[in-house]
Amino acid sequence: MKIFIDTAELEEIKQAVSWGIVDGVTTNPSLIKKAVDRRKGKISMEDYIKEIVKVSPGPVSLEVIGRRADEMIKQGMLLHEKFSPFGEVAIKIPINPSVNGDENLDFDGLKAIRHLSSEGISVNTTLVMTPEQALLAAKAGATYVSPFAGRIDDYIRANMGMKIGKDFQKGDYLDHELLRSARNKVLSDAMASATSIREIYKSSLVHSAADRSHDNGIYSGVDLVTRILRIFRAYNFKTEVIAASIRNSRQVREMAELGVHIATVPFNVLKDMIKHYKTSEGMRRFMDDVVPQYRELFMEK
Ligand code: E4P
Repeated sequence: MKIFIDTAELEEIKQAVSWGIVDGVTTNPSLIKKAVDRRKGKISMEDYIKEIVKVSPGPVSLEVIGRRADEMIKQGMLLHEKFSPFGEVAIKIPINPSVNGDENLDFDGLKAIRHLSSEGISVNTTLVMTPEQALLAAKAGATYVSPFAGRIDDYIRANMGMKIGKDFQKGDYLDHELLRSARNKVLSDAMASATSIREIYKSSLVHSAADRSHDNGIYSGVDLVTRILRIFRAYNFKTEVIAASIRNSRQVREMAELGVHIATVPFNVLKDMIKHYKTSEGMRRFMDDVVPQYRELFMEK
């Protein structure tokens, strides 16, 4: 599995690159805003992004801001032209750039993906929330699709009436196995009084119990990635899956178990991945047990 770092903070990128585990970088307008706000105009946006592209050992995803296909194509080409002389660049195109749903822009992302890909420009399809969207992006020739695992977990929790900051924190792992068992328990309770299959199938009690714990058959961000990979493998799509919107190290592990091509991981999650209480405790014990004779081995003569 390749690891991209999900940040626009140059210092974080440099540090993670120095650990020798980074294969690329992903940014988005929100991450860029955070990085720029911190710098208060001390460096131009163009120079700052050039720096990121120069230090990254692999593709840096940069997002367009247009929403019509022609705008996105123009902007994608411009970003590619400006920054690819300094390193590898992938252009982030939203799978569906519609904001209101009534703008007739639903398919402009696909058009832009098709066009840019046919020009040989790598496209990273962003804001992918369903396997159906991933399938369409792959059909349009995208180099990457980025399913937003954490945001789907948030959405499922919100549908269950859970509030971020109160019932769960941003970095909390969503236990989809526990969720599945809880759902089965609620379902079997709701079914207990039914006398026919038809009654169960039509029961609003059964449906409300079942519907709230998933998003149209997707039970978590990890489940979303599982299903996208299943489709891509069934048809040998070349499009690579970037597990995005990662919130904790266990999600990274589960993505790796699935054999996802890439996970894009925020700096704080990368830092968590190296830690374990027993590792630190083991280190303390080993250090305490170093005898002088053993220490002498390392002394320069
Ligand atoms: C990366 O490609 C995405 O833009 C990013 O992972 C989104 O993460 P968030 O949902 O934590 O904002």
